[in-house]
Amino acid sequence: MKLKKGILIHNQLEQGYEVVHINSGTVLHTALVTEPVNFHGMVYTPQYEDNARIAKRDWRALNREEIRGIQAKDKRNDYNTIYLGDIPEALKACFKRLDLANSKSREEVFEKFSGDAALTKELSSNLNSFLSPLADNKPFNFHCIGTNLPNIEMVACNTTKLPKDFKPKDIKYMGMHNDGTQSMTIHTAHKFGNRISINLGNDTRSFLFVNLSMIQALNMIGKKIDLKKNNVNIANIPKFFFEHFPDYPVIRVQQKPYQYYIAPTDNCFHDGSTLGNKELDITMVYFGAFQC
Ligand SMILES: [Fe+2]
Repeated sequence: MKLKKGILIHNQLEQGYEVVHINSGTVLHTALVTEPVNFHGMVYTPQYEDNARIAKRDWRALNREEIRGIQAKDKRNDYNTIYLGDIPEALKACFKRLDLANSKSREEVFEKFSGDAALTKELSSNLNSFLSPLADNKPFNFHCIGTNLPNIEMVACNTTKLPKDFKPKDIKYMGMHNDGTQSMTIHTAHKFGNRISINLGNDTRSFLFVNLSMIQALNMIGKKIDLKKNNVNIANIPKFFFEHFPDYPVIRVQQKPYQYYIAPTDNCFHDGSTLGNKELDITMVYFGAFQC
C-alpha cells in the first residue's frame, strides 16, 4: 500500500533521509521468529501480548516521491510532525561526562545520575536551555529515563500489572500501539502534545511509526467496518487498524546516540526497537508541545 499524506517528518539530521526506511507493513508477532536476548548472563526469548503486531523486516530506503510526500513544510505543529535532530554539543558533553552509555543495567544508569550532584545540576540547566525554545513557551515536564535490553524488536510494554520483582523475561511486549489514555478519545488524541526522546545509549536505536493521525486511521477503518457497531475507540483502534490494513507501511527512523526525535505518540501508531543492538538502550523523555 502507498503512503498517504499524513504525519510528516521535519528532518534536521546531517544524515538526512539515509536514516529513514520504509517497509511493506505489519504482521502478527507469531508470523516471525523472535530474536533472543543475550546480555550479561540474561538469555531468553521476548514474549508478546496475544494480538501484538510487529513491523515486517523488509526495510528499504524511501524513493524520491516518498521522501517528497513525507517532508514537512511550513505548517508544522506538535501533532502533525515528527522532528529529528541532534542535541547541542554542550548538552552532549554533559551526558558523556556522566558516562551513562556504558551502563549495564537500569540501576547503574540511575546511580550515575544521582552520583554527581554538580554535574546533574549543570545537565539540568543545559537541558532547560535546549528544551525551552522547542517548547515554544509552553510548559514541559520530565517523563522518564527509559532503559531497554538490546535486541528487543518492539520495546513498548505495560509492566504495571507485573509483580514488583519482575524479570525482563516476564515482560509481554505490546507491539505497534498509540499511547492514548482513558482521558482522551480518537478525536481529541491530537490535543495532548508530544514527547521528545533523546538516545543516551551507545547504540543506534529505532523509532517506528505509521504516518497517520488517529482520525485518519479511524476514517480508513470506517470504510471497512461499522465503527459504532464495533465500538472502535482509543484503546482498541490499533487492533482494528492493523487487522484491516496489514499492508500499510511502517516508517523506521534510526536514531544515533545523542540524537532526538519529537513525536505525537498519542496521535500515531508507533514503537521503539533495539533489534540488532549489543548494549543497553537508554533514553530520556520529556512531555510537552515541542516543535521547531
Ligand atoms: Fe508508546
